[in-house]
Amino acid sequence: MSGKNVTNWYKNFGRRNLPWREKVTPYRVWISEMILQQTQVSTGINYFLKFIEKYPDLNSIKFASEDDILKLWKGLGYYRRATYIYQAKEIIHNSMNGNFPEKFESIISLPGVGRSTAGAILSIAFKKSYPILDGNVKRVLSRFYFQKNFKEKKFWTLSERLLDNDDPFSFQQGIMDIGATICKKQNPNCLACPLKPSCRSNLKNNFFNLPTKKTKKKSIHLNFKIICKENKIYLIKDTTLGFWKNLWMPPYEICKDNDYDIKHKLSHRDLFIEFKTEKKLGQSENGQWIEKEKLQFIATPKPISDKLLEL
Ligand code: ADE
Repeated sequence: MSGKNVTNWYKNFGRRNLPWREKVTPYRVWISEMILQQTQVSTGINYFLKFIEKYPDLNSIKFASEDDILKLWKGLGYYRRATYIYQAKEIIHNSMNGNFPEKFESIISLPGVGRSTAGAILSIAFKKSYPILDGNVKRVLSRFYFQKNFKEKKFWTLSERLLDNDDPFSFQQGIMDIGATICKKQNPNCLACPLKPSCRSNLKNNFFNLPTKKTKKKSIHLNFKIICKENKIYLIKDTTLGFWKNLWMPPYEICKDNDYDIKHKLSHRDLFIEFKTEKKLGQSENGQWIEKEKLQFIATPKPISDKLLEL
């Protein structure tokens, strides 16, 4: 019953201005869900539009290189998602006849697609009933069923229980919208909520937030070597840092401490970045001389490209 309330609410009050909700195709839903995995809707919209303008469908992305896709991700962070899109479209074109898969097992086998993303793609693009469990949905479920401790298995069951199997398309988008706009972390707007009649937190007048795991961040001090020759700069394509994989950047050294120029926060690390101008190339560098005018067209991490574009 409550699931139907969500569906009906979505049809009347759901967010209409989200571009991935127009011209729904499995490809567009997949790209939007990859972007929205770690990005807020307000930021995701422009990246989605830019991505779709360049690659509107599976055919147009067929011959894109990993670099091409990474470039579109510039500034968005969690660049691994762009690499996953590259790897997934290769799989789709090489082993799935260029058609986006329709079965849960095939969708979840794609790089970067977990159970929740697969559920969102199946529900929204294929109108098939599969549960999802992102941060907002977890909060709605935890309050609706008054479950103060998050247990993965239990929450998947709850997500399945609430789901409206007759209209997973409207239900899933509705529950995401309720999580984002009504059942907010602070000051939930229960008067507007279609789940209010059966919501246990509403009955108890107790709106908690699930405990968040505090990850202890590691600090990394990086000294980048800026080496220029005529109108060119020397850059490497790094694969060893563990983040920023396959992005272009100046050669660097990791040190214990430095006189950093900028501090940059990643999800699990705080980076302390110093730029040092050097006259000569070290011996073991394995990179390329790149013309400065081309810098804006290659995939570099945002804090690094900001500095390089100043040069
Ligand atoms: N977050 C993740 N997927 C979403 C979607 N399809 N619409 C709105 N927010 C989302």
